[in-house]
Amino acid sequence: MVVMAADYGGPEVLQVTDQPAGEPGPGEALISVRAAAVNPIDYKAYSGAFGTDRSRLPIRLGSEAAGVVIQAGPDAIGPAGPVTAGQEVIAFRAPGAYAAELVVPAQSLVPKPPVLEWAQAAGLMLTGATAWHALAATDVGPGDTVLIHGASGGVGLMAVQLAAARGATVVATASPARHEFLRSLGALPVAYGAGPDGTGLDGTGLDGTGLDGTGLKERVEAVAPGGLNAALDLIGTDEAMDVSLALVAARSRIATIAGFARGLAEGVKVLGGAPGADPGTELRDAARLELARLAQDGTLRVFVDQTFPLADTAAAHREIMGGHVRGKLVLIP
Ligand SMILES: NC(=O)c1ccc[n+]([C@@H]2O[C@H](COP(=O)([O-])OP(=O)(O)OC[C@H]3O[C@@H](n4cnc5c(N)ncnc54)[C@H](OP(=O)(O)O)[C@@H]3O)[C@@H](O)[C@H]2O)c1
Repeated sequence: MVVMAADYGGPEVLQVTDQPAGEPGPGEALISVRAAAVNPIDYKAYSGAFGTDRSRLPIRLGSEAAGVVIQAGPDAIGPAGPVTAGQEVIAFRAPGAYAAELVVPAQSLVPKPPVLEWAQAAGLMLTGATAWHALAATDVGPGDTVLIHGASGGVGLMAVQLAAARGATVVATASPARHEFLRSLGALPVAYGAGPDGTGLDGTGLDGTGLDGTGLKERVEAVAPGGLNAALDLIGTDEAMDVSLALVAARSRIATIAGFARGLAEGVKVLGGAPGADPGTELRDAARLELARLAQDGTLRVFVDQTFPLADTAAAHREIMGGHVRGKLVLIP
């Protein structure tokens, strides 16, 4: 079973088809996928966000999975050593991961930390490596106070935990319903949104929504009176960039993974696959073994919000397109 986008549009263009995975060639392995994680880029691939070139259709989706090696091709060596049948692995980068079986380069395979469930293992790497890159690019370390915008999403929860593991104090923006959870991860939560002036979350102010009649900048200053050293924009709103620029002195210590045009114009670190951005490929790939180690020792947890049958990918995409997933959505073949 393979899920692909047959056209550009909404989740209704997704099709479930039968397509054999094929034999692994030299340096490749065939895996039986037990879980594949969902990321916003998966629906952006067919939404038109990156254009609507019809020659690219149909589009295979997904980029990370966890499963069992069925067959290894000749010279299948991964970052942790030889790849052999029966190994439990995480595959990242794994283009076309929305499938029951998948051929991937052996270099994409990292041993699955035994402590993780399949769904957690599938959701560890893309968000983990992105957060790792953002913290490295902004040089976050002991004694720093870092503001993380979009802290309760997939990348956000990784960034909160990895920043804390680096010894930083974390100020985390999220909707108020997520604040207790973020506190349990050691972060200082604040509500995003502009306050009771008609442009805020719900415009109601002092009613338990977390808004206090002031803007995000003032709310951040209230919880971090000593100031900020760095900021990660994981959401791409003007509010996130404005507040980061207002509160962090050095532009080299502000990074965005979602506000590409604005980030390039402001001269902050712009990270990812967009033109002009730093993809950090080597750094992200090198982070995989370390992320697996941190997951195994319990320093880094993967929070799976919901799982869906692979055949019901459209429902998972409708959910993530809503913009308020807590952690990861995962597909089960
Ligand atoms: N450049 C790269 O390399 C790279 C890599 C991975 C992802 N990305 C991009 O980064 C973004 C985040 O990815 P993700 O996987 O973390 O997505 P996600 O899991 O869907 O993130 C959703 C989160 O965004 C929060 N949110 C919604 N509106 C917000 C606002 N106005 N201000 C602050 N937070 C808000 C929500 O928090 P509440 O529910 O608490 O409201 C929710 O937890 C996406 O645009 C994705 O495409 C880029």
